[in-house]
Amino acid sequence: MLPLPTFRVRLLAAGLTGLSWLPAAAQTAAPTTITVQVNKPGGAVSKNMYGLFFEDINFAADGGLYPELVKNKSFETDEHLVGWKALRGGAGLETYAVLTQQPISATNRHFVRLNARVAGPDAGMVNEGFRGMGVKQNAEYTFSLYARKGPGSVNSLTVTLESEKGQPLAQAQVSGLTSEWKKYSLPIKPSATDAKAHLKITLDGAGTVDVDVVSLFPKDTWNNRPNGLRPDLVQLLKDMQPGFLRFPGGCIVEGRTLAERYQWKKTIGDVASREPLINRWNMEFKHRSTPDYYQSFGLGFFEYFQLSEDIGAEPLPILNVGMACQFNSAELAPMSSTAGGPNAGNDPNTGDPTLDTFIQDAIDLIEFANGPASSPWGAKRVAMGHPAPFNLKMIGIGNEQWGPQYLERYEPFAKAVKAKYPNIQIVSSAGPSPDGELFDKASKRLGELNAEYVDEHYYAKPEWFREHADRYDKYSRKGPKIFAGEYAAQSVAIGSPDNKNSWDCALSEAAFMTGLERNADVVGMASYAPMLAHVDAWQWTPNMIWFDNLNSYGTTNYYVQKLYALNKGTTILPVQLPGNAKNGQDNLFVSAVADNGTGEVVVKLVNYSPEARTVKVNLAGAKKLGKTGKATVLASPDLQAQNTLEQPTNVAPKESEFKVSSAIFDYTLAPNSFTVLRVAGKK
Ligand code: AHR
Repeated sequence: MLPLPTFRVRLLAAGLTGLSWLPAAAQTAAPTTITVQVNKPGGAVSKNMYGLFFEDINFAADGGLYPELVKNKSFETDEHLVGWKALRGGAGLETYAVLTQQPISATNRHFVRLNARVAGPDAGMVNEGFRGMGVKQNAEYTFSLYARKGPGSVNSLTVTLESEKGQPLAQAQVSGLTSEWKKYSLPIKPSATDAKAHLKITLDGAGTVDVDVVSLFPKDTWNNRPNGLRPDLVQLLKDMQPGFLRFPGGCIVEGRTLAERYQWKKTIGDVASREPLINRWNMEFKHRSTPDYYQSFGLGFFEYFQLSEDIGAEPLPILNVGMACQFNSAELAPMSSTAGGPNAGNDPNTGDPTLDTFIQDAIDLIEFANGPASSPWGAKRVAMGHPAPFNLKMIGIGNEQWGPQYLERYEPFAKAVKAKYPNIQIVSSAGPSPDGELFDKASKRLGELNAEYVDEHYYAKPEWFREHADRYDKYSRKGPKIFAGEYAAQSVAIGSPDNKNSWDCALSEAAFMTGLERNADVVGMASYAPMLAHVDAWQWTPNMIWFDNLNSYGTTNYYVQKLYALNKGTTILPVQLPGNAKNGQDNLFVSAVADNGTGEVVVKLVNYSPEARTVKVNLAGAKKLGKTGKATVLASPDLQAQNTLEQPTNVAPKESEFKVSSAIFDYTLAPNSFTVLRVAGKK
């Protein structure tokens, strides 16, 4: 249970002591025979089966995937000087004010006016970055800002990048200031690497200068894009060959209030004019409060679509269904407007957006992603540099919603989207818990409504994952498909700051995922949550990938996800254990698929036991059997083992070959291991 009043009390399977597992089989015991029915293939495995869930939590966007180094570059945050401090050394800075007269754009209304009474070397301001600025020796960065000269003799500004200890790493001058707003760009090349540098801007002379949209952006971005993403993080994602990217959340879609909801239309177009919004996670956890956490939307919907394309994932945007987060204000948009004409979509009394507005946002999004240049929203995508459609195929209506308020909004929402775009698949929500009354009611009703995908979330203790590896064995084959949209084993409790990305959690998830794979005819998509976390600025743990300002690593959980994704195959192969043995009995979990592309049989085995154990694998009906197979093993005798920035591959996959003497062969599983065997045998 979450100890925090502001977040959910979830039906967590906390403190379960587990089934009365049989003692682990010793290596000396007769090997268990696992029969993989190669000759009786089942349903198809979705090619999007294993994907990613991105949410801007833990500094995942600003300070993470989006590599802008200046925090609050436009002074548009509620407290306009978040991230900035005045330097008052030397002759001193007289004025340091946020003003709004003649701003650079209607959505970028604030700027800073710097005024030095007399000339001095240290009159200006400093930006702290996102827990510092990670800069690399001799790498290229572009510094840019908008500036406008006021009264006095200041014709230039000095820009200094300093190390954490205050040593200069690079310096440049912005010269030729005029009385009109103008954008200036300069190259910056640090002389040394520093994870926590900061940036100073000082006035050369006495007088006044207005400053806005201050940016320090690395040239080294994914695909070398000017507004591109952090390459090491994108690489980790791409390496997983993800089937889809679910974005932008998460509770962030909902907002604490409807006014603070995620509005995709405000996240596209000119980056300098995107208005920042408070991040819903900033104060959610009192013990990890982050008052300086805003969304700059430098990473906005266009960039999410582009990222999906770059990593080969189907985009899956999640849209607000007219409900603010039910763990917070639970505000509801009125069902529909009675006013027609220009005011349609707004409540005639309050002016607040009605459900119509939310539906229209979804319809416009589909046009933005897929529409031709001749359509109003398609034209905006084209203007941003992507003439080809993004080929959006699915959207989610609501994040983690529950109760009748959701169902009554979901129904007209889904109908309206389908009426306009019948081929767009819709993901609906089963709420925050994987069971209980609300879950049952939502699942039943969504079934009656012929929902296509129902998004189920499970955050629970590791043992819950092992005990529920059979969750989908009994699901109806005629109902909606399941999207396991958020899951992660919580070593202590949901929301606990002590949760770890331990091997115990990852191995339990691997065990659970054998059940997803065995039931891939029901479960069409699955994603671990959350995806990214800054080691110095997180709110939530565990997470799949951790990073600091320079480096990143995949957790043990990352490697489990990656092994499933890289070995998802194309067709389910039924698996039998001896007698009445259940999958998961004796801490042995198994699933298998055929890979019709390569002609291989792929068997996944989880040995959640401190003992090695030998299994007899029977590839029944295999044809053209290979003489050797490839084993990929993720193992650690220590269930508490973790990867870290210092030891990023402490628990990481190791590959080896093994002999395949016949269609029935022995294989010894390492203690506490997840093993993927690939053997030619399907052609
Ligand atoms: O993954 C963190 C949060 O957990 C998500 O924002 C939300 O959907 C779930 O409650």
